[in-house]
Amino acid sequence: MIKVAVLGYGTVGSGVVEVLRVNQEIVNKHAGQEVELKYVLDLRDFPGDPVEEVLVHDFETIVNDPEVKIVVEVMGGLKPSYDFVKRCLESGKNVCTSNKELVAQHGTELLQLAKANSVNFLFEASCGGGIPIIRPLYSALTADKIDEVSGILNGTTNYILSKMASDGSDFESVLAKAQEKGYAERNPEADVEGYDACRKIAILSSLAFEQYVDYKDIYTEGITKITAADIKYAQTIGTSIKLLAVSRQSDKGTYAMVSPVMIDSSNPLFSVNNVFNAVYVHGNMLGSSMYYGRGAGKLPTASAVVGDLIEASKNVNQTVMGEGWNPKKLELMPLDEISGRFFVRISGSITEKLPAVEKVFGTVEPITVPSMEDEFAFITDEMTEAEYKEKANQTDGILSMIRARI
Ligand code: HSE
Repeated sequence: MIKVAVLGYGTVGSGVVEVLRVNQEIVNKHAGQEVELKYVLDLRDFPGDPVEEVLVHDFETIVNDPEVKIVVEVMGGLKPSYDFVKRCLESGKNVCTSNKELVAQHGTELLQLAKANSVNFLFEASCGGGIPIIRPLYSALTADKIDEVSGILNGTTNYILSKMASDGSDFESVLAKAQEKGYAERNPEADVEGYDACRKIAILSSLAFEQYVDYKDIYTEGITKITAADIKYAQTIGTSIKLLAVSRQSDKGTYAMVSPVMIDSSNPLFSVNNVFNAVYVHGNMLGSSMYYGRGAGKLPTASAVVGDLIEASKNVNQTVMGEGWNPKKLELMPLDEISGRFFVRISGSITEKLPAVEKVFGTVEPITVPSMEDEFAFITDEMTEAEYKEKANQTDGILSMIRARI
């Protein structure tokens, strides 16, 4: 028998308890032993909830109990999660977490601490919710040199962009509706500004490139400036706009970026809609592969956490991820050196403005939308961000720019 404790009885914590209860037999079978939930830590009381039988309010009860071999941290945030996780690892307890902030900020140290104490620090649920992506990166795909990991890593923004496209609505009204339905947080900043996706791509990049990628180094742009007009243009040319987190390695270096990107139907991420997430991985032997599923939500996330719990229960005194990635920070290419194509909207009539645009950008193919006669758009040739900025500075009337992978 193995005894576990869950820190936090919120959405994910109650999901973990539910998975352990509903799938008790399956979990025990895969763990090779009975898994017993000994404690759930939460400051609140839950009168009438069966969790009361195992509910404790003091973390010391858990950390000082030598019977507890696995601790699930699903409180989120850094305080007090970081201190709690550190103390659990130092006390020889395995830790499974869904906390991307914790992994992005302190993952390097916590992985080393786990190794030093011959236990595990596992975080499958921190990226892509229920999608198995962390374990493939440190296990199934280790025969490959991974040169790209990219994806749609945030369900809230993917839902908003999908709704904007299907309803023709603007960002603010779709966000308000998403908040009403509980698909977006009351404070949506971390999602809509791309910060959540940024932390996730930092974690995935650190694993894929086996070296620590600092999320603070990743250029991050959210979806708040995307308008219904941008989406109309995208639809006119058979493309869609997605919040992409992209991380690539080539002989020029490594770059990572989170931003809205216009993609066409040849891109495997094109059909990933609504709250779904997907992660694309490219390896030198593997070629392309993709992982798709629910990137958030109580039970998908809890399923990933309990998967880690089973992995830990089979390896209680053996660190399956070793020391994790190389702790020396991977230097990312400066934004200015990154190359790509750019979709640009210009105000004014084509007849008046096109000659000036072509003087700066060279010959372009103008794109028009029938109901929007006082503007047009075009997609540039491939150029660096620095070159684009220089040309944009010489161009009047730019209404919007969206990076394009077309
Ligand atoms: N807010 C996140 C999302 C939850 O919308 O994807 C999962 O990390």
